Amino acid sequence: MKDIIIAPSILASNFGKLATEITAVDKAGADWIHLDIMDGHFVPNLSFGPPVIKVVRGASAKVFDVHLMVSNPDRHLESYAEAGADFITVHAEACLQLERTVSRIRELGCRAGVALKPDTAPDCLAFILDRIDLVLVMTVNPGFGGQSFISAMVGKIAIVKEMIGERDILIQVDGGINVETAGVVAAAGANALVAGTAIFSGKDASAYAENITAIRQAVVSSGIKGQ
Ligand code: DX5
Ligand code: ZN
Repeated sequence: MKDIIIAPSILASNFGKLATEITAVDKAGADWIHLDIMDGHFVPNLSFGPPVIKVVRGASAKVFDVHLMVSNPDRHLESYAEAGADFITVHAEACLQLERTVSRIRELGCRAGVALKPDTAPDCLAFILDRIDLVLVMTVNPGFGGQSFISAMVGKIAIVKEMIGERDILIQVDGGINVETAGVVAAAGANALVAGTAIFSGKDASAYAENITAIRQAVVSSGIKGQ
C-alpha cells in the first residue's frame, strides 16, 4: 500500500505573503505543495503563472505539484518546467493530443499527470497509462476553492484504481477534501490528497499543522496507512 500524500493548495493561502505561506505549510507537515494555475478561459478564474512559481520555488524543497487549469497547456509546458515544477498535471479536456502532451512533460524532466473534470469518464486514460505518473480525479468542478465535494466521484476513484492495476501511478483528488471526505476517498483508492480551505483556514499559520494532522488522522481512521 502506498503512503498518503497531503498536498496543500496554496490557492487558499494569503497571496500577499505567498513565499512565507509555502514555507509555513511545508514546516507544518505538507508532503507536496499544490499550485493551481487558472487562465480565465478553461476555468472562469485567474490565478498566477510561471514567474510567480519561480520566485517562490526557494520557499520549500518539497515537490511542486502544478495543476494546469488552462486551455492549450502545450504552449506553456516548458515555462512551468523551467520555473521549478516537479509534477505537471494537464486536463484531458484541454488537450487535443493528450499522449503527445504527457510525453512532452516527461521529456522536460517532470512527472506527468492527467486531470479529469467530474463529468469526464476515465476511458481517455486507457491507452496512455504507461506514459503517466498521476491521475487527478477532480472532486469539484475546477476553478474555485471552497466548493463542496461531489460524492459520485468516489465510484470514479475506484474505477481509476482498477484501470491502473499494479502500475506506479498516483491517484490524486482535489476539491472539497477535509476531515469528513479524506477517509472516504482514501478508502476508494486515492493516495494524494489536495486540500486548500481545510488546511489554510484558521487564524494563522499555527493552525496549519493541526489541520494537516487532522486530515492524516481521518485517513488512518478509515483504515488506510498514513505517511
Ligand atoms: C479547484 C482547485 C483546487 C482548490 C481546492 O479548482 O484545483 O486545488 O484549490 O480547494 P478546496 O480544498 O478549498 O476545495
Ligand atoms: Zn488543484
